[in-house]
Amino acid sequence: MNHWASVTNGHSARTILVTGGAGYIGSHCSLQLLLAGYKVVIIDNLSNASDEAVRRVGDLAGKYKKNLYFYKVDLCDKESLERMFLAQRFDAVIHFAGLKAVGESVAKPLLYYCNNLVGTLNLMDVMTKHNCKKLVFSSSATVYGQPKTVPCTETFPLDVLNPYGRTKLYIEQICRDLYAADTGWQIILLRYFNPVGAHPSGHIGEDPRGIPNNLMPFVQQVAVGRRPELTVFGNDYPTRDGTGVRDYIHVVDLATGHIAAVEKLFKSGSTGACDVYNLGTGRGTSVLEMVAAFEKACGKKIPLKIAGRRPGDCSEIYASTEKAEKELGWKARYGIDEMARDQWNWASKNPYGYVYEEENNHTECKAYSN
Ligand code: NAD
Ligand code: UD1
Repeated sequence: MNHWASVTNGHSARTILVTGGAGYIGSHCSLQLLLAGYKVVIIDNLSNASDEAVRRVGDLAGKYKKNLYFYKVDLCDKESLERMFLAQRFDAVIHFAGLKAVGESVAKPLLYYCNNLVGTLNLMDVMTKHNCKKLVFSSSATVYGQPKTVPCTETFPLDVLNPYGRTKLYIEQICRDLYAADTGWQIILLRYFNPVGAHPSGHIGEDPRGIPNNLMPFVQQVAVGRRPELTVFGNDYPTRDGTGVRDYIHVVDLATGHIAAVEKLFKSGSTGACDVYNLGTGRGTSVLEMVAAFEKACGKKIPLKIAGRRPGDCSEIYASTEKAEKELGWKARYGIDEMARDQWNWASKNPYGYVYEEENNHTECKAYSN
């Protein structure tokens, strides 16, 4: 185990275990938790992240840095997980850790089922044993598949198109089963729409390995000269300009959505539940609109090549945000101009992202190698 944030403190802040906290969303969320006064213990196997992100979260947290701890732990290594819970009491867990590349999940389904499901089952088992029953889980709008209408409400039928999406669907169902068996659990499933942007400081942001799958990381790499052009997947959708429409949400808004969720779990008088909320803005933006916002932010033209549709893509999806507004008291604040501005600020300051050790690349699943 690797422990670098060394300060112990006598402060009785609530302690949140953040799995996958070195990653894109987890690092932004850890920072917001620290600023809100929580003690944050990050565990991450660094398969898709760098501990430099955690270090920078600490720097951005200023005086709250003393409440940040990091351990390199793989959720598939149940013994290490167990040791974490023996050493420390956690008041709640936010579970981000997982593999997330759709294409890779189609090519390597066992890796995805093993890492995402086994890791989650280990976590839930250890939480049960240590009577820690407050959980926030990172689900995805991918569980709506191709919605028949928009905006998507949380009651829409679920339909997934790939193994990555199925891991989200199965974990959601496992959470519902867990609550049905023991109503002491308090679980919040958050269905993220399309997280983009970066912390306004430009010190933390998204740093995908290899060729980015998602739109904004790709656009960002074109802007800094790492890729020659953006391929637009389809301009014949029944949308206002023919390109796909998504609900992009600033990652800082997403992080504050998690604070709202955690606060709901700690609200006095709150009882067991397994609730689900969309985290989006409720607004749809096309690929070309997003590219235009980014061009405005960076002052450069993004060369485009129009290609055919990407298999598995839906034409248009955006969230109904009513439930989160009403029950979590949370609403996204930022629009696409701020998303593009902060994405560019991060990209221009860190054109090659964090510095990686290539050997961290995930190639195996520990649960199978026991
Ligand atoms: P990310 O890859 O940046 O972060 C995930 C982190 O989990 C990484 O740091 C990785 O090293 C870690 N990890 C993976 N498997 C692990 C394991 N077995 N043990 C310990 N750590 C492990 O991804 P992100 O974009 O920050 O996504 C966080 C969560 O949100 C994921 O569960 C993802 O599926 C979900 N999500 C992301 C998006 C998105 O567009 N980014 C959309 C919807 C849902
Ligand atoms: C994708 C995943 C989804 C996952 C989500 C967040 C697929 C089919 N879906 O969703 O499961 O939850 O990421 O990680 O992979 N686009 C381009 N060129 C590019 C990249 C994207 O034109 O190089 C377009 C897409 O066709 C889409 C839009 O940009 O219309 C957004 O794409 P992306 O960022 O990949 O997100 P999703 O497709 O919503």
